[in-house]
Order: sequence, then C-alpha cells, then structure tokens
Amino acid sequence: MVAPDPRRGRSGLASRLLAAIALVVVTAGVTAWLVAGAIGPATFHSHMLQAGASHDPVAVLHAEEAFRSASALSLTVALAAAVLAALAVSLFLTRRIGRSLAALSTAAARVAGGRFDAHVTNPHLGVEFDELADAFNAMSARLHDSEALRQRLLADVAHELRTPVATLTAYLEGLEDGVESLTPATVAVLRAQASRLTLLAHDLAAVTQAESGELVLQRALVTPQEIVAAATLSAGDRFAARGVELTNSVDPDLSPLDVDRDRMGQVLGNLLDNALRHTPPGGVVTVSARSVDPGAVRIVVEDTGEGIDPQHLPHLFERFYRVDTARDRTHGGSGIGLAITKALVEAHGGTITATSAGPGHGSRFEILLLAANAAS
Ligand SMILES: Nc1ncnc2c1ncn2[C@@H]1O[C@H](COP(=O)(O)OP(=O)(O)OP(=O)(O)O)[C@@H](O)[C@H]1O
Ligand SMILES: [Mg+2]
Repeated sequence: MVAPDPRRGRSGLASRLLAAIALVVVTAGVTAWLVAGAIGPATFHSHMLQAGASHDPVAVLHAEEAFRSASALSLTVALAAAVLAALAVSLFLTRRIGRSLAALSTAAARVAGGRFDAHVTNPHLGVEFDELADAFNAMSARLHDSEALRQRLLADVAHELRTPVATLTAYLEGLEDGVESLTPATVAVLRAQASRLTLLAHDLAAVTQAESGELVLQRALVTPQEIVAAATLSAGDRFAARGVELTNSVDPDLSPLDVDRDRMGQVLGNLLDNALRHTPPGGVVTVSARSVDPGAVRIVVEDTGEGIDPQHLPHLFERFYRVDTARDRTHGGSGIGLAITKALVEAHGGTITATSAGPGHGSRFEILLLAANAAS
C-alpha cells in the first residue's frame, strides 16, 4: 500500500505568499483608516474655530458631521479600492512565482524519474531564480550526456565481448561433439580469444580510471630526451622484427617536464604501437621533441604508413573507434588505446591532436605539454 503523502492538502508557496501579503495590506489599510479617523476630525474642528465659526455651534456641529461622514465614506472607498488593487497585483505576482517553482519541481521530478532531457525556461524573477534555472539546466544536460555515454559504453562492451565469446563457445561445443579435436591450432585459437577478453578487461579498467579524473600522477621532473629515449628503446625490438625503421630527433637543452614518467611511457608506447601496426615494412616512424613558445614542449610521433582519411580524424580518440573495424580488430586492438592516451595527456594538462594528409600519406600525432618552469 502506498503511504499517503503527508504534504498533500498543505497550501503551496504561492497561496502562503498571497495570505502574507493580504495580511500586510489589510493591516496597512486598517491602520490608515484609524489614524485618519483620529487626526482628521480634530484638525477640521480647529480649522472651523480659526475661521470664526465658534459663534454658531449648530453650524459647527453640522459641518463637522458632514466632514466625518464624507471623509469616512471616501476613506473607506479609497482604502477598499487600494486593498483590492494591491491584492490583484499580489495574486498575479504570487501565481507567477508559484508557476515557476511548479515548473522547476516538475522538471526535477522528471530527472528523478530518469528523464534527463528536462529543461526549465528562465523565469526572469530575479538573479537567484535565473541562477537556479541555469544550474538546473546545466545539471540535467550533464546527466543526459553521461547517461548517453554510459549506454554507448555498455553497447560497445557488449559488442566487443560477443565475437570472442561466440568463438570460444563454438569451439567448446565442437570439442564436446567431437567435431573438433584439441590440436595445438585449436588451443592457439582458444588462447587468442581468451587473451582478447583479458586485454579488453584490462583496457576498460585503464580507460575508466584515466577518464574518471581520479588518476594519481607520480609527477617528477623528467627531460623530454629521457621520455623519448625510454619509449624508443622499449619499442626498438618490435620495430626491428617488422623491418620498420624507428628514429628519434630531440632538440638539445629542452626544458624538463613535470610528468608521470610511466604514464608518459604508456602514452608514447600506445602511439608507437599504432604507428608500427599501420606502417608496412620499409617504412619509417619518427619520434621528435621540440620546444614551442611560450614554455611548451611538442612531442610528435610520425609515420610513413597507411595514413588516415580526414573524415575519421575527429573520432580517433573515441573509445572503440577503429577506422577499419574488421581489419583493425584482427590486428588484436580493442580500439581504446587512443582514448586512454588522450585521457592521460589531458590528466597532465596537455593536448593531443592527430593529422594525416590522407590514405597512403602517413599519420602524425602531436602532444603539447607545458614545460615545468611554465606550468608552475
Ligand atoms: N598511426 C596510425 N596510422 C593509421 N591509423 C591509425 C594510426 N593510429 C591509430 N589509427 C587508427 O585509429 C584507430 C584507433 O586507435 P586506437 O589506438 O584507439 O585503437 P587500436 O590500436 O585499434 O586498439 P588498441 O590501441 O586498443 O589496442 C585504429 O584502429 C586505427 O584505425
Ligand atoms: Mg592502439
């Protein structure tokens, strides 16, 4: 059974405001009436005496009686009209306030019910109300965006899980039915699908942590030379094995950066992995670092590989975005590397951009970071 709402039957803000204003207006009217009644006749009497009417008391009495009834009538009518006019204006204003608050509470109830598209129009009832409406609209827009993001992430994850899980299930069923046998080739397929699931779980955890803003950076002063040398050293063997040349070019005497060494290693590692994956044997990948005025350092990973069509460039840093979904997936990537890379660079206060002259013309990823002396 639904418990009765204890607020039901209680009067709203608009009627309370109206009752308070009515009380003020009636009190002012009665006070004005009493004060005018106490002062008016005495003043009139003294004026009659000054005008020399004391020799005819009957005429004075008559004139005073006429004044009293005329002023009582006009005062009563004037005050009644004033009270009614004041109440009509108050009714209009309190209804307007009531309507604005009702619109806000209806919109809040929609948001509470999970409808994040609720919007309130600006009531123009003063700065506080306007700020309240703006804050409410900003809040619902933000909730709307994060809900959309959550739904897209869930759909993406479900999509990514489907293929490896379906492959594993098919193979296991084949083994059970005796259609497949546990040969080294079958084990390799099962293992590859299992590692794809493991990688996905790892990447999802990494991107969630990086994008949550809760990433704790172990900042220290590191020179761009050290960052670039460490990244190229650890990727060197893989490049040599594929016959892709890896070179680096760093300006001497670059200002140190106040960064998390491991996270920056992860950033360059992701970019180098991508460059290697998309550059055929015989190609060249270059990592460079230059100083940019004022007090910034630009680190660039550039390749002579397959390049990227301009229409894909704005989406590259979105989670699960792959230029050629089928082919990029078979390369083994989850399509999360660049999303993690961007979140890590932004956690350092930097920016990352991708450019390419188009398919067949290589790609260029550019990171801009403030030098430690400029950042402090
Ligand atoms: N250097 C590059 N040259 C051409 N295309 C690239 C390059 N770097 C990234 N891309 C494109 O951008 C897509 C997204 O890259 P991202 O690093 O986010 O995912 P991934 O490499 O496919 O998978 P993951 O990094 O999660 O293992 C890639 O699938 C690829 O299509
Ligand atoms: Mg990648």
